[in-house]
Amino acid sequence: MKTEPPPREVAELPRADRAEQDGIVEEDNRIPTWFNAAFLGTIVFAFVYLLYYTATGWSARGQYEAEVAAANKAAQATQASQPAANPYHHNAAAIADGKVVFEQICAACHKPDGSGLVGPSLIDPYWKYGNSDQDLFKTVMYGRPGGMPAWGSQLGPDKVWRVLAYLETLPKSKLPGLGAPGYQAPGAAAPSSGG
Ligand code: HEC
Repeated sequence: MKTEPPPREVAELPRADRAEQDGIVEEDNRIPTWFNAAFLGTIVFAFVYLLYYTATGWSARGQYEAEVAAANKAAQATQASQPAANPYHHNAAAIADGKVVFEQICAACHKPDGSGLVGPSLIDPYWKYGNSDQDLFKTVMYGRPGGMPAWGSQLGPDKVWRVLAYLETLPKSKLPGLGAPGYQAPGAAAPSSGG
């Protein structure tokens, strides 16, 4: 049985096939001008882009590589401008500043005495990333993958040197500490054989 389509509110162009299913009639309205303009715009853009790309040699990859090269150069310059050794060895004022920073930030993970908690012990003879001034500076400035955050942007190089000067003054332990190979948790059984 064929029912009359409901009255139409949209102005419709005459359509030869009058496609209809279950009383639902397909409309065939004029495509809005803004849509055609946007569509033509993409075609024009493609030609302009193609010309620009081939004529000037510009590419997104090249732009990216140039930016990476510039950033690397800047990073090298920052590193090169750093002293090779800690300028604050045995400097009491700097050590006092470093103590404040250590207790505010580092102690949460390394404990106030440096014996380690979330992060490894900083007072044992074992160093995963080395304990030269340069190694320690890199560790604290740029972080390490096993969960040591980078502090460079928050502290800046000067405060990092100060906190490292304080680190040197913490009483050291000769035993492998938390995070070192051979570490024994207090109260754990003694190792059966060396290994
Ligand atoms: C969020 C916890 C956390 C905080 C805060 C933190 N560390 Fe660490 N730190 C770690 C972890 C985890 C590691 C081990 C990283 C690894 O093994 O890759 C580590 C490693 C280190 C090491 C390298 C030890 C080695 O054996 O080479 C040094 C040095 C260090 N931290 C110093 C500091 C100093 C100084 C501060 C304060 C400015 C600090 N850390 C703050 C978690 C932390």
